[in-house]
Amino acid sequence: MEIISSDKYEKCIKRVIITENEIKEKIKIAAKKIDTLYDGSPILLVSILKGAFVFMADLCREVSVPCEIGFMAASSYYDGTYSCGNVKITLDLTQDISKYNVVIVEDIIDTGRTLKDIVELLKKRNPLSFHVITLLDKPSRREVDFNADMTLFTIPDKFVIGYGLDCGEYYRNLPYIAEYDESSE
Ligand code: IMP
Ligand code: MG
Repeated sequence: MEIISSDKYEKCIKRVIITENEIKEKIKIAAKKIDTLYDGSPILLVSILKGAFVFMADLCREVSVPCEIGFMAASSYYDGTYSCGNVKITLDLTQDISKYNVVIVEDIIDTGRTLKDIVELLKKRNPLSFHVITLLDKPSRREVDFNADMTLFTIPDKFVIGYGLDCGEYYRNLPYIAEYDESSE
């Protein structure tokens, strides 16, 4: 992993495209929709690591239905464990999801490959119900036929950082979503 200089770190944050407040407001609305959809039934929120950890933390604190949380991690590189399609599952759920209404919580849908494979894998485990919520969507980049049930923000084809999303593992802790400036690398 490259160690970044503080000068380069700052320069690569090109401009804020979604503010902390805009994210908060959209999450409140999304949480209300989830409450209405499940109407008091318990749910299992499943966050895909690492990118969705911040979104998960904020979303789970806004929903009112009884809720458990779970984590999965996937990688497009082979680094052990087993594969589903082109995506390797590097961390799997501990829950038997056949007993759960599953809500997948994702940071961004880009080509759609990661989520399509994860969803196919999880549906084979026969959850009671299945729903996908994503913070961001870049529909212009799609390579496979996959759409979320709920999208908070649709964005153009720009590489973005912050609020869980990284570039080279940095910037996940920014409280907003910013465009990454590749020309400053
Ligand atoms: P996919 O192409 O839809 O399979 O997206 C796979 C993963 O790529 C996402 O879950 C993100 O972790 C990452 N990704 C895609 N676009 C961006 C971006 O603009 N910034 C940071 N990560 C991204
Ligand atoms: Mg992700």
